[in-house]
Amino acid sequence: MADLPFNLKGLILSGGQGSRLRPFTYTGAKQLVPIANKPILFYAIENLVECGVRDIGIVVGDTKEQVMAAVGDGSRFGVSVTYIEQDAPRGIAHAVKIAQGFLDEDPFVLFLGDNFLREGIRPFVDQFCRQNPQPAGQILLYPVKNPQDFGVAELRDGRLLRVVEKPKEPPSNLAVIGIYMFDRTVFEAVNGIKPSARGELEITDTIQYLVDHGHDVRCEVAGGCWIDTGKMDDILDANRAILEGLEPASAGKVDEASRVEGRVVLQEGCEVVNSVIRGPSIIGERTRIVNSYVGPFTSIYYDCLVQDAEIEQSVVMENTVISGIGTRIQDSLIGRNVDLRGADGKPRSCTLVLGDFSRVRIP
Ligand code: G1P
Repeated sequence: MADLPFNLKGLILSGGQGSRLRPFTYTGAKQLVPIANKPILFYAIENLVECGVRDIGIVVGDTKEQVMAAVGDGSRFGVSVTYIEQDAPRGIAHAVKIAQGFLDEDPFVLFLGDNFLREGIRPFVDQFCRQNPQPAGQILLYPVKNPQDFGVAELRDGRLLRVVEKPKEPPSNLAVIGIYMFDRTVFEAVNGIKPSARGELEITDTIQYLVDHGHDVRCEVAGGCWIDTGKMDDILDANRAILEGLEPASAGKVDEASRVEGRVVLQEGCEVVNSVIRGPSIIGERTRIVNSYVGPFTSIYYDCLVQDAEIEQSVVMENTVISGIGTRIQDSLIGRNVDLRGADGKPRSCTLVLGDFSRVRIP
């Protein structure tokens, strides 16, 4: 636990519609999609806990019931959680504005709940906290191939000159990561800016306001692995990134006819029967793998059944059945309560009940 010189708070944003992650986000919050059998949002909370943060505000929207059910009062993370409701997605800076009562005068880390920084944030937070005088803000940057999809920073001699939101012509390849540190000066900025063309109070305008008004905003380039888990491929990438560092563990049952190879985590009460599991992979609580192959970079969440099937490089969410599939499933993201079974008999055909925006490839 870090020893902080003041009461640093955390503010996690867990609203938003997650339109790029449909169909999963019709029924669930995007921040609750599991990566290596843990909701993305929990990584953010744990990152903050590692820095010594004990008071976390979570800004919630339409999916507030699910987020509140998953996180509760925060006690299981050793923190106190305060929920702050945002009536509509009015922007990141708007979320900061409505959280002022909770944040009060304390410096804080603003963490977008779908951002994933595998190596955590501890060194950056330590640096922010120990600088004297303390800067008004500190942002993290990450070199990307598609800067036009993010907020982008322009630097001169290592100092932040400008930030622009999703520019058509990016001034650099440095994306602004959705993890920011601010002191109370930020409220002057969020109250001083106007909504953007898309009608939102933008975090990039907030940062620019601070820079333009002569406040010190530091920037650091993060190494390691950063993923904005907004799309399906990003979820699979983040899953792979976590599984790469997996420590094997077994709290499940494996019968004599099965083989478990490499770094595999078998969670409490899971069962492997006449199957091959090849790591890195993780099998969730009470999940049964029967007469099947589970290949590398696969996470199967709790209460699932995989029977007479082969699957690899995939994420399967809770309560799903995959049974009797003649083709190996790969690079797939499979939702909750899905019933995926092979069809018997002739003619050979597929029977599908797919939600809007589903994507299926059939060989
Ligand atoms: C938001 C911010 C953007 C930042 C990104 C990081 O974009 O507006 O500046 O680079 O998060 O994930 P959004 O993902 O909401 O489009």
